Amino acid sequence: MGTKIVGTGVYLPKNILTNFDLEKMVDTSDEWITTRTGIKERRIAKEETITHMATEAAREALKNGNTSPEELDLIILATLTPEKRFPATACLVQANLGAKGVYSFDISAACSGFLYGLDIADSFIKAGKAEKVLVIGAEKLSEAVDWEDRSTCVLFGDGAGAVLFESSEDESDILATKMYSEGSLEELLYADKCGYIRMKGRELFKVAVRSMEEVCKEVIEEAGVKPEDINLVIPHQANVRIINALAEKLGLPKEKFYVNIHKYGNTSAASIPIALHEAIKEGRLKRGDLVLMTAMGGGLTWGAALLRY
Ligand code: ACO
Repeated sequence: MGTKIVGTGVYLPKNILTNFDLEKMVDTSDEWITTRTGIKERRIAKEETITHMATEAAREALKNGNTSPEELDLIILATLTPEKRFPATACLVQANLGAKGVYSFDISAACSGFLYGLDIADSFIKAGKAEKVLVIGAEKLSEAVDWEDRSTCVLFGDGAGAVLFESSEDESDILATKMYSEGSLEELLYADKCGYIRMKGRELFKVAVRSMEEVCKEVIEEAGVKPEDINLVIPHQANVRIINALAEKLGLPKEKFYVNIHKYGNTSAASIPIALHEAIKEGRLKRGDLVLMTAMGGGLTWGAALLRY
């Protein structure tokens, strides 16, 4: 029995904040942000709560997967910006969806959160404990950003992505996953006492490239596939220079890497499910394709998954 992606959905706030808008807020420039990160604009939630964004993304994923909320066995929501200390945002979404009594919980693994959720979903499905699992990555990072700190405020955006996984008997499957965390590296990327994101960008850049390179090679080997057979790579969208460096290290052409960072910036746990949804909609990912996903973020956490879509 395999684990198959049967539906995806997103919610992106309508409100756009461009690099030119940021020029009026902090000492920065469109040129600096574009050349250092690849970001041109990001979405900023105004009245939308993270629960609202996550619920809308979940509704679209369920609709695309022809599944009603009551059929779900599990809802996992990855975020570093939960609506409240408790209840879990997953429970708030579960209530909004009308998924009566469905087992729901949050996970906190920053930018790797969606992949952690995917791994848990796969484990539940393969253990026979669940048949239909919704994994949501949702962030309202605009509330976790110090808008006076130019070294971080230009990087992040808001949004949500959701993916419905189901047990399947066809060739679609999650072939290999590998997740890591290393709390002793917390100082590179953490939330300060006010809850604001702080990072040592230069050091983190190197750790991001090295850790994602290593973990990607591990899942490629474990899945027993040839790197050249991978059709699409969906990396966490933190910096286009990190993505390009990773492509070089893995010896894969840049064209195989899905990039939408110019539109949304770094949306942490939401970044991979948003990119996955767009890749499917644009026809970049077709049934039977091999897709590699990888992320690294606060915690530190990192991981990779290799799937046959
Ligand atoms: N505008 C203009 N200048 C700036 C800005 C800005 N917004 N921000 C920093 N600078 C300046 C710095 O002050 C520095 O000036 P100095 O040389 O006079 O000291 C100069 O630009 C270079 O700064 P660096 O930090 O060395 O710039 P770098 O090229 O490393 O880019 C960046 C910074 C974009 C943060 C990069 O290091 C990066 O992407 N790091 C990794 C981020 C990442 O992977 N995050 C993981 C996920 S995030 C999560 O989990 C929540």
